Amino acid sequence: TILVLDFGSQYTHLITRRLRELNVYSEMLPCTQKLADLSWKPKGIILSGGPYSVYAPDAPHVDPEVFKLDVPILGICYGLQEIAWHHGKDVLAGEQREYGHAALNIHPHGDNKQAHVSRLFEGLPNDMDVWMSHGDKLSRMPDGFATIATSTHSPYAGIAHEEKEYYGIQFHPEVTHTPKGGVVIKNFAVNICKAQQNWTMEAFKDKEIMRIRKLVGEKGQVIGAVSGGVDSTVAAKLMHEAIGDRFHAVMVDNGVLRKDEAKQVKKTLTEGLGVNLTVVDASKRFLSLLKGVSDPEKKRKIIGNTFIEIFEEEAKKIAKEAENTPKAGKVEYFLQGTLYPDVIESISFKGPSVTIKTHHNVGGLPEKMNLKLIEPLRELFKDEVRKMGVDLGIPAHLVGRHPFPGPGLAIRIIGDVTPEKIRIVQEADLIFIEEIRKAGLYDEISQAFAALMAGRSVGVVGDNRLHGYIIALRAVVTTDFMTADAYEFDSAFRKRVAGRIGNEVQGVVRVLYEETSKPPSTIEFE
Ligand code: XMP
Repeated sequence: TILVLDFGSQYTHLITRRLRELNVYSEMLPCTQKLADLSWKPKGIILSGGPYSVYAPDAPHVDPEVFKLDVPILGICYGLQEIAWHHGKDVLAGEQREYGHAALNIHPHGDNKQAHVSRLFEGLPNDMDVWMSHGDKLSRMPDGFATIATSTHSPYAGIAHEEKEYYGIQFHPEVTHTPKGGVVIKNFAVNICKAQQNWTMEAFKDKEIMRIRKLVGEKGQVIGAVSGGVDSTVAAKLMHEAIGDRFHAVMVDNGVLRKDEAKQVKKTLTEGLGVNLTVVDASKRFLSLLKGVSDPEKKRKIIGNTFIEIFEEEAKKIAKEAENTPKAGKVEYFLQGTLYPDVIESISFKGPSVTIKTHHNVGGLPEKMNLKLIEPLRELFKDEVRKMGVDLGIPAHLVGRHPFPGPGLAIRIIGDVTPEKIRIVQEADLIFIEEIRKAGLYDEISQAFAALMAGRSVGVVGDNRLHGYIIALRAVVTTDFMTADAYEFDSAFRKRVAGRIGNEVQGVVRVLYEETSKPPSTIEFE
């Protein structure tokens, strides 16, 4: 195990991700972790970056025992300063901000007799592009240390005490902006620490199941919302594996789901995966509240608030019934399928608690109901969750599903939402996705859907002119959904889909393709 001590950098989780990619097991703990409280000895320690200056009176510092363990240590950014600080408080020369790309040089350096090509940089070219983001700067080498890398602005971009196997680097090897950073982490974890490369997603899953069982106890019960999307399905199945029917999943049909979605989710989760699921058909309640509302923000608020009301009502019912079963205890926990990219704050060293961003779909619910959160996927990225889904036996077509927004088709219908408009988007969407699947393009596209434009347009149906609806089709390619490019279909495909929607979806007279990138556009239409 590699112990990652977190000083609060937004990149710390990427260190654990890079280690997972090497099949090396790691545990991330707050930087103030007392080593005496650990029941295991790490093979090596990584000190992360952080937003502080080691000078600051309230700057966080590691347990000094870290330096008595006799294991290799890698300090990244703040971590480097921390190593230096522990080896002589006078080695720091004050703040110097450096941010962005930098050229790193790892050859032996003239002004330092002990300079050498470090084991940390084995197999790397002399010059490489790295990502810098740091404050403090070293004024001199701490005793026993040597320079192992320089950059244009940092004469001490890398330092090492090869005997003790302590390494410090100013740049961030864990981010993709440091293209060869993975090699640095591998050199440290595998070559220097000799960590075993036998960790798998399967092992993560088993460990998470054990953790959930311990947390919830032998009788505790958990509720959670599912949407039919990948994250909530994987989280639900994991919970089911851990505690069986003491997990209660709830799906709220808000009337603006994809065609037959509620039925299909019920079928997959209950029959296919054995999850204990209640589907609440609240479509009438949602649609009557949405009637005549065109403002997108208002639509979002209505859907969000009504969702919470309904979920709360249902959860109370379930909790009451569940607590009457003699074999089970109280409903104490709320499952959330939050992924790492949804978590904005990393583990805070200031207190034992973890700061969490409440997901926009269920915001505020757990606090309101006095439930504790369980987020088994919070360390994972989407592709890792998909991998876990496969390991849990969730069918591939479900695991690879495109995302679908919480406010559903309401944000894909411009203007007010009516049952007729919902039917039209649902039918058009079904045809578009069906053709994408038939053409074998589904997995190449990150998200594709139909939306209904505002206003009407004229068409001819039979011998009559029809004042009908306009459908827009959008398909994008993206990795993080923060930026996106339009997917380029060939013209035969586009004509075929437009033709089918025009002919088969009653009320549609025009089909447009939307190919703006994000930015300036967004993925959804709102
Ligand atoms: P935009 O339209 O902002 O969308 O480019 C980026 C991604 O987020 C999804 N999205 C949502 N997902 N609840 C969700 O669960 C929401 O309120 C929501 N709004 C947008 C959108 O589908 C796209 O994948």
